[in-house]
Amino acid sequence: APRSTDAMTAPRPAGIPVTVRAPAKVNVQLAVGGLRPDGFHDLANVFLAVSLHDTVTASPCDTLEITCTGPGAAQVPLDDTNLAVRAARLLAARHGRAPGVRLHIDKDIPVAGGMAGGSADAAAALLACDTLWGTATPRAELLKLCAELGSDVPFALAGGVALGRGRGELLTALEVTGTFHWVFALADGGLSTPAVYRECDRLREAAGTGFTADEVPAPEPDPELLAALREGDAGALAGALANDLQPAALSLRPALAATLDAGRAAGALAGLVSGSGPSCAFLTADAASALAVAEALEKSGTCRAARTATGPVPGAAAVDGTVG
Ligand code: C5P
Repeated sequence: APRSTDAMTAPRPAGIPVTVRAPAKVNVQLAVGGLRPDGFHDLANVFLAVSLHDTVTASPCDTLEITCTGPGAAQVPLDDTNLAVRAARLLAARHGRAPGVRLHIDKDIPVAGGMAGGSADAAAALLACDTLWGTATPRAELLKLCAELGSDVPFALAGGVALGRGRGELLTALEVTGTFHWVFALADGGLSTPAVYRECDRLREAAGTGFTADEVPAPEPDPELLAALREGDAGALAGALANDLQPAALSLRPALAATLDAGRAAGALAGLVSGSGPSCAFLTADAASALAVAEALEKSGTCRAARTATGPVPGAAAVDGTVG
C-alpha cells in the first residue's frame, strides 16, 4: 500500500474540480500621483487583505463556461469582460492550449465596491485553472499574468500586506504584526474605478494644483503608517489611514460622508472610503468593538449592510481537500 506521504507528492489526477478562494482588500494608504501618458496613475498603494472572500471553482469542460452566485451576482458580467474569463483565456494562451474550463464564482465580496472583488476572481481563476490544467506556471509568471489582468490582481494572489508601486502592480511584501479588526459599510450600487480617478484629476485641476504626472509629486508610503503595521498598533494605524481617492468618491457619492460619520460616532478608531469606493472601511480596537460598530452602522440607515472582517489574511489559495 502507498505510504501516506505519497499522496502529497503524487501528480494530481486530471479532471477533478479545483476550488480556490481569494480575499478582498482594503487600501490603508492610497497615495495617488499624477495622470500618466498611458492613462494610469502612479501609486503608493498599501494593500491589506481582509477576510471577505470570493470562491472560484474550475471544472473540466470542452468550452469556456462561467456562472456566478451570491449577493450581487446579477451585476457580474458573464461575458468575455469577466476578469475570471480573461484570466482563463490568458493562461491558456500562455501555454498554447484551449481554454476549456467551467468556472463558477461564488461571490461574497461586494461588486464594484472598491474592495477588488473582480481582481480576487481573476487571481482565483488563474490559480484554479493552472491546477486543473496541470500547467504548473511558476509563481513569478503567475504574478506577471495577474498584472496584465489588472493593477490590483497581483495583490489578490499575494495577500497579506504589501506596498504596490507603479500602477499598483509592483509589489513589495510589508512586515506586519498581529491582526486588525475591520468593519465594512456596503453601499447600494457600485462606483466605476476609472470614473473615480477621472474625478480625482478633475478636482485637482479645479484646485489649480495640476493633475498630470509632471505636476503632482511622486506618491510615497507614509513611514508612520509602515511603523504602525510593523508594530501592530491599531491606534497609530487609525491615525495614518489615508486615501487620495476619498475626495473624488465623496464628490461622486456625497451620501458617503454620513456613512463615515456614523461609523466614527459608533466608536471606530477611524474610517475611510475603501479604494475607489463606495464601500467604507472602519478600523476598530478589537472584535467586540467591530461587532458594535457594524450593528450601529446597520441601524444608522447610512449603508445597505455592514460586515466585520479581520486582516491581514493570506492571498488566493486552494480550499483544503480540492488539491492534493
Ligand atoms: O488596472 P485596472 O484595470 O484595475 O484599472 C482600471 C482603471 O482604473 C484604469 O483604466 C484607470 O482608469 C484607473 N487606474 C488608474 N491608475 C491606477 C490604477 C487604475 O488611473 N494606478
